[in-house]
Amino acid sequence: METIRTVAWMKEKARAARQEQRIIGLVPTMGALHAGHMALVERAYHECSPVYASIFLNPKQFAANEDLSRYPRPLEADITKLTSAKVGGLFLPDAAEIYPPGFSTYVQVEGVSERLEGKSRAGHFRGVSTVVMKLFEIVQPHYAYFGRKDAQQVRIVQQMARDLNLDVEIVVCPIVREPDGLAMSSRNTYLDAQDRKAATVLVRALRAAEKEIAAGVRDALHLQGVMQKVLQSEPRARVDYAEIVNAETFEPVVRISRRSYGVLAVYIGKTRLIDNMLIEPLGDDLRTEV
Ligand code: PAJ
Repeated sequence: METIRTVAWMKEKARAARQEQRIIGLVPTMGALHAGHMALVERAYHECSPVYASIFLNPKQFAANEDLSRYPRPLEADITKLTSAKVGGLFLPDAAEIYPPGFSTYVQVEGVSERLEGKSRAGHFRGVSTVVMKLFEIVQPHYAYFGRKDAQQVRIVQQMARDLNLDVEIVVCPIVREPDGLAMSSRNTYLDAQDRKAATVLVRALRAAEKEIAAGVRDALHLQGVMQKVLQSEPRARVDYAEIVNAETFEPVVRISRRSYGVLAVYIGKTRLIDNMLIEPLGDDLRTEV
């Protein structure tokens, strides 16, 4: 697998692939790859050639008080995983390559990026949409692969693609979980043994709400109460938010009738974890996916 470190060379590769009528797939990541990332790569492998993965620990999406400096960086292991998955190339720019001195243009998706993750993490989504826009320009993908684990991020990238007439299809992949249900995340490595056990409280809360929905409950406040009760039963957990929101706007809903998400952000000790459940109409019923 080729490692491409400059924007100029990546653009050249993309231009050549497009000229040969090939279908370019892009899997953007920040590294510390796990089975969740690899599921995106796998899907891309079946639909595109060449597939490019990017690893870029984007400083602009981390606030000053966040975990940029201690974010895991197991580059060699990442390269081994991408090589076994037969990825065509790894785009691995450094920060100065993406943000050279004097950089001053940002992409801001209004509305949906101001809620939930956007509210708790000031500037986060501006950093995400800006870097994803740049990656799209540099790699020129026909398809770009994102995980539903970060449902609000996907929604924002889709909005950006629509508003800016981008020529890329956003493919959304399901959440990959550990055997005990914990959603895979690079940040799970921060958890010590006891926190790791406690962290399953997120998926337990979602599943409790899922059960109520299956029993016919549609009232969002009731479902929020059910999630809160499970979360509060775990002494190591501190809830940032636990809501039922509209899947388009990420505004809270009163009664579930359209496509929605149950969304959670919870501190386990010092580690902030997010998780969600998709809720969508299916005939007269609702279908849920944790
Ligand atoms: P990162 O957290 O590395 O995630 C890269 C991609 O993997 C995202 O689309 C994310 O939703 C997906 N992913 C992470 N965990 C997953 C899981 N358990 N199941 C399924 N998919 C999962 O998200 C980012 O990086 C950055 O914000 C990025 C988009 C790369 C922009 O910097």
